[in-house]
Amino acid sequence: MSTPGTTGATAVSSTGTISRGRTQSLPGFDAAAPLLQVTDLNVRFPTDDGLVHAVRGVDYTLRSGEVLGIVGESGSGKSVTSLAVMGLLPGSARVTGSVKYRGQELLGQGDRSMSRIRGKGVSMIFQDPMTSLDPVYKVGAQIEETLRIHDKSLSSKAAETRAVELLELVGIPNAGDRVNSYPHEFSGGMRQRVVIAIAMANQPEVIIADEPTTALDVTVQAQILEVLQTALQETGAAMVMITHDLGVVAGIADRVLVMYAGRPVEIGSVEDIYYEPRMPYTLGLLGSLPRLDAPTRERLTPILGSPPSLVNMPPGCPFAPRCPLHIAECDAAEPPLFQVGAGHEAACIRTEQVERAHGHAAEVFSETATDAVLAGDAIPTDLALGEAGGETTAGDAPPPDQTEPAADVPDTGSVISSHRGTTDGDRA
Ligand SMILES: Nc1ncnc2c1ncn2[C@@H]1O[C@H](COP(=O)(O)OP(=O)(O)OP(=O)(O)O)[C@@H](O)[C@H]1O
Ligand code: SF4
Ligand SMILES: [Mg+2]
Repeated sequence: MSTPGTTGATAVSSTGTISRGRTQSLPGFDAAAPLLQVTDLNVRFPTDDGLVHAVRGVDYTLRSGEVLGIVGESGSGKSVTSLAVMGLLPGSARVTGSVKYRGQELLGQGDRSMSRIRGKGVSMIFQDPMTSLDPVYKVGAQIEETLRIHDKSLSSKAAETRAVELLELVGIPNAGDRVNSYPHEFSGGMRQRVVIAIAMANQPEVIIADEPTTALDVTVQAQILEVLQTALQETGAAMVMITHDLGVVAGIADRVLVMYAGRPVEIGSVEDIYYEPRMPYTLGLLGSLPRLDAPTRERLTPILGSPPSLVNMPPGCPFAPRCPLHIAECDAAEPPLFQVGAGHEAACIRTEQVERAHGHAAEVFSETATDAVLAGDAIPTDLALGEAGGETTAGDAPPPDQTEPAADVPDTGSVISSHRGTTDGDRA
């Protein structure tokens, strides 16, 4: 995302309020450290059925000015990952790993410390606007309260002026009057605009948007995505954009992390993920999207079946029961992320076969493919054949480009999508 006119370090609003520096209130602050660094994040919930391992080793780094899309089906752990970052999980959750904001460890911080980070360092937009808005207060008052949490010296006049200004920025008509309305007097799309205004109020460095458009109809979704772009331009923030819809992140993300059964299964630039995915699950997600770039009309190819239970997961690849490329070897151990290109990693032992599809899911998935595999039939497409044309057997070694897990590979840096004309340094 290109965001001209903002530096990310100091911003001046039209009320003259200067957002001085960024939140540096926890031990370990390092201005040169990545904005957000999540390492080996695990979240477990004790339940009557056993321990639900909802997030299983999530790693990602968010750099200045970047938009990272996190995509996955319902239940894949997207929200739990983000709530862990914000310190908003219920007390029963067992969280391990590390979440660092500019070098400051957030895991294990109390509510008081986290309140200094939330809103100003990292702010969050939830799917349902009413989660964030209090129905009994006017929207203006709610924006003003958010402003005053981090700037106690702000006069009520300046706070009101800034609230109106923020409502104008997010496209609320007659903002000067609407500042005195209650949330129920707004439509769903307008409420989500107010929530975005609150999220950007304190010029955060990171905005986490958890399915911000899912509850809205398609036309309003497009408008809200535009408002989010405005929020990024205005604040200079980086963003984690969570969605179950790969189509939503196409126009806004620089990199995409695909989650399945609580862990990342592919990460790469938008181009990698859309045109050269290497994990069958990503390919399957693409197959359920209409593509305008297809040379001929392609039928949609849904991924059949459901994700696995996160209680006592069996060994092996969690996607195996739904994967048209499944072979016996896939059941031996859960594949780690393998490096398959610069800044591109995929958790699959058969990425060479996926590569041959070049993003066209119908080459691998068909309406009957998963049924055939589930029934124990032969692998359903030619792509499941080995180089010599023979069927790959359980004893085959992983392809040569996958012999080293990505954990041992040095970080290759940010890959920013060139189609939107951005560079990594735009807002660094
Ligand atoms: N408090 C909790 N106690 C037990 N299990 C939970 C709790 N919160 C979440 N889970 C489980 O963790 C898993 C991941 O949930 P999460 O809400 O992160 O999914 P998601 O990817 O955000 O899905 P969606 O797209 O539906 O929002 C799910 O299986 C969910 O049931
Ligand atoms: S490891 Fe096997 S089952 Fe898992 S996604 Fe790759 S081919 Fe499919
Ligand atoms: Mg969710």
